[in-house]
Amino acid sequence: MYRIGLIDGDGIGKEVSEGAAKVMEATGVPIEWVRGSAGAAVLEAEGELIPEKVMDLIRSCQATLKGPITTPIGSGFKSVNVTLRQAFHLFSNMRPVRSYPGLSLYKDIDLIIFRENTEDLYAGREVKISDDEVHGIKVITRGASTAIAKEAFDYARANGRKKVSAVHKANIMKQADGLFLEAVRAVAKDYPEITYNEVIVDNMCMQLVMKPQQFDVIVTENLYGDILSDLAAGLVGGLGLVPGANIGKDAAIFEAVHGSAPDIAGKGIANPIAMILSGAMLLDYIGERAAGDQIRSAVESLLKDGIANELTPDLGGTGTTNGIVEAIIGRFSL
Ligand code: NAI
Ligand code: MG
Repeated sequence: MYRIGLIDGDGIGKEVSEGAAKVMEATGVPIEWVRGSAGAAVLEAEGELIPEKVMDLIRSCQATLKGPITTPIGSGFKSVNVTLRQAFHLFSNMRPVRSYPGLSLYKDIDLIIFRENTEDLYAGREVKISDDEVHGIKVITRGASTAIAKEAFDYARANGRKKVSAVHKANIMKQADGLFLEAVRAVAKDYPEITYNEVIVDNMCMQLVMKPQQFDVIVTENLYGDILSDLAAGLVGGLGLVPGANIGKDAAIFEAVHGSAPDIAGKGIANPIAMILSGAMLLDYIGERAAGDQIRSAVESLLKDGIANELTPDLGGTGTTNGIVEAIIGRFSL
């Protein structure tokens, strides 16, 4: 029996995380779910954004599946997501992006983004100098840059990937992004069989839109990785399709790239596939690769020949969150 955390999130979080849990259970892998919540509603009810029992839950489980959590814009509390990534040293954010025939703008995208997950401008170091001036401090360390580079190159080696591209802006941020690149280059030397190149982030955006097939493994800093993930999702059919893993020494939290999608929350039409595929990554992580593959095959089959009433509106259909969950489980036996 695996002990797996389930943090439901808010907005579309509850709908898609329950759906993903149901699909994971249907694989037959024995899971004891340990449930918890965090975010604005919890703050109101319990006086804490992330109650200590939720931190304990994550600590005590082999892995945790987490729904998206809303973060207030401009002011208010610090992001729960950023807090968890920092608290558990979840330094590696891994986001595989692939195209599905028929759905995606491109047919042959198969790339994976490794995003440093704990520092950069997301470290939350902002200094108010005056009412009219704020300094946001970009934190880049050799340690974290080396760690994410190793993750990317190790993944490439273990999975027969041919190329790693580092994305940066070291032409302008000569010291911060310069240090990031220095660290990645040093790691690249230990992987002579893997092609290594560097792309400046603005050019990267254009390259991804024009010729995404040229990319295999991408390694980058926190902010660029966040932005490039959504951009890449747009190339393959939207945020409803892209899963993610946050891996660290102390814990592992699996979640979709997307947020709480307040514009469609509560309507039962959110696409649960990104969360379901995050669940498949969780199953891989705990050693249940066959179950992860079973989920990925069922998703692929649904996206290949799914009829309009099975697919949610973001995929051009008229279906529902639960409809997708049932359609995926229904394909297990095929
Ligand atoms: P979002 O990712 O929630 O939504 C962007 C657009 O994509 C919206 O039009 C939404 O309807 C659509 N979308 C997203 N997921 C979808 C799905 N599963 N099915 C169908 N359509 C989907 O980004 P937004 O609106 O910028 O952020 C909303 C909130 O989510 C914010 O409070 C933000 O801080 C939070 N957020 C939380 C994350 C997390 O918990 N890991 C990650 C990203 C954002
Ligand atoms: Mg994001």
